[in-house]
Amino acid sequence: MLSARPNTINTVKAALGPISRRPAAANTVPAFVSPVFRSYASAGITEPLQRTPLYDFHIKHGGKMVPFAGWSMPLSYGDVGQVASHNHVRSSAGLFDVSHMIQQTFRGPSAQAFLSHLCPTSVASLQPYSSSLSVLLNESGGIIDDMIITKHGSDNEFYVVTNAGRAREDGEWFSVQLREWNATKGKGKEVEWNKLEGYGLVALQGPKAGEVLQSLTSYDVPSLKFGQAAYMDIQGAKCHVARGGYTGEDGFEISLPPDAAVTIAEKIAFSPGVQLTGLGARDSLRLEAGMCLYGNDLDETISPVEAGLAWVVGKDRRAAGDFIGSSRVLRELKEGPARRRIGLEVLGSPARQGAEIFTDDGLTQVGIVTSGIPSPTLGKNIAMGYVQNGYHKKNTQLKVKVRKNMRDAVVRGMPFVPAKYYR
Ligand SMILES: *[C@@H]1O[C@H](CO)[C@@H](O)[C@H](O)[C@H]1NC(C)=O
Ligand SMILES: *[C@@H]1O[C@H](CO)[C@@H](O)[C@H](O)[C@H]1NC(C)=O
Repeated sequence: MLSARPNTINTVKAALGPISRRPAAANTVPAFVSPVFRSYASAGITEPLQRTPLYDFHIKHGGKMVPFAGWSMPLSYGDVGQVASHNHVRSSAGLFDVSHMIQQTFRGPSAQAFLSHLCPTSVASLQPYSSSLSVLLNESGGIIDDMIITKHGSDNEFYVVTNAGRAREDGEWFSVQLREWNATKGKGKEVEWNKLEGYGLVALQGPKAGEVLQSLTSYDVPSLKFGQAAYMDIQGAKCHVARGGYTGEDGFEISLPPDAAVTIAEKIAFSPGVQLTGLGARDSLRLEAGMCLYGNDLDETISPVEAGLAWVVGKDRRAAGDFIGSSRVLRELKEGPARRRIGLEVLGSPARQGAEIFTDDGLTQVGIVTSGIPSPTLGKNIAMGYVQNGYHKKNTQLKVKVRKNMRDAVVRGMPFVPAKYYR
């Protein structure tokens, strides 16, 4: 695990008892928070929560800390509400701590072949210093996790970011697969897997993100396009910066070396136009952008074709089918999946995770909502869910059962809010 500053944790623990009982890490999560936050929250209560290198920084700046995926993370800051915070990112810029995510490298003469074995992406056609969304699949084609893969200077070196909530499952998967790889196909050209322990990771997102980053580096920021990555000097530290994010806005994910994490975060957070932004706004922004949250919208029973992520399956990979889980993926590409992920607009009241989706006559259940919110940007209730194949076409009229009421719902294209990537 990416366990930052274990010494601090132990010292505090000794002084105060279990961290979960500290007021700063209260185990109460407001009702508006997506259920996955609450389920992660309850799962984390018995174990001491991990802290990112920015934990003290959050406390100092009014972070309302909640347990998330085993980590103590800011839900919001001070008295800035979730909607105001969300709107600020869409109109200016927000800084998010995403250091709980797992940053790792895969290096070695067969690193490209190893990752190609593990995921359906055309890893071989990725340009140097460019990234792609991808998925780890189990033997049955179910999604173990979604991840971002970045190729560095050569085919022998990759930087991969996976989800905190899947750290245990991903870790076991990578270990087992790598052991086998090193002993068989990768023998003599082994792959080394390293987690970036103690590093921070922040996301700077919003229309002003480019301007803000440019004010802190001499690197020519406009030369970096969406989906590209580079090392740049920020306040004297060499940082890995990837242009992209989880909000649909222009933005950057900036990896912070342990010694410089707090200084750089401070510098960005207090640049003109930037607001610290917590998990609450992160969830509403990503849902408007049509992006999946693992645990809500993705799990091990769902395939990339069902999830509307068939585009991550590279063209060359379809012909060869030489990746784990390929038989289901190739079959579904050919014959269509049994169910599909859709976007929904729900009239009347917001549908939440678990709400049942019915045919328009209200008689037959055809699916389930996996995420739903009142959209701050659109002023409508939006949701994501899965329905049986055939009910997924845009403008299909459906019903969603919200508490005891059947609400009208319409299938909508995603993203709900158009993306504004810098290309
Ligand atoms: C893949 O995950 C699904 C869902 O948990 C499970 O049913 C299936 O057995 C898994 N397949 C393998 C080969 O592990
Ligand atoms: C694979 O090989 C690399 C390079 O020799 C080694 O560092 C690593 O520990 C091996 N990993 C496994 C899981 O065998």
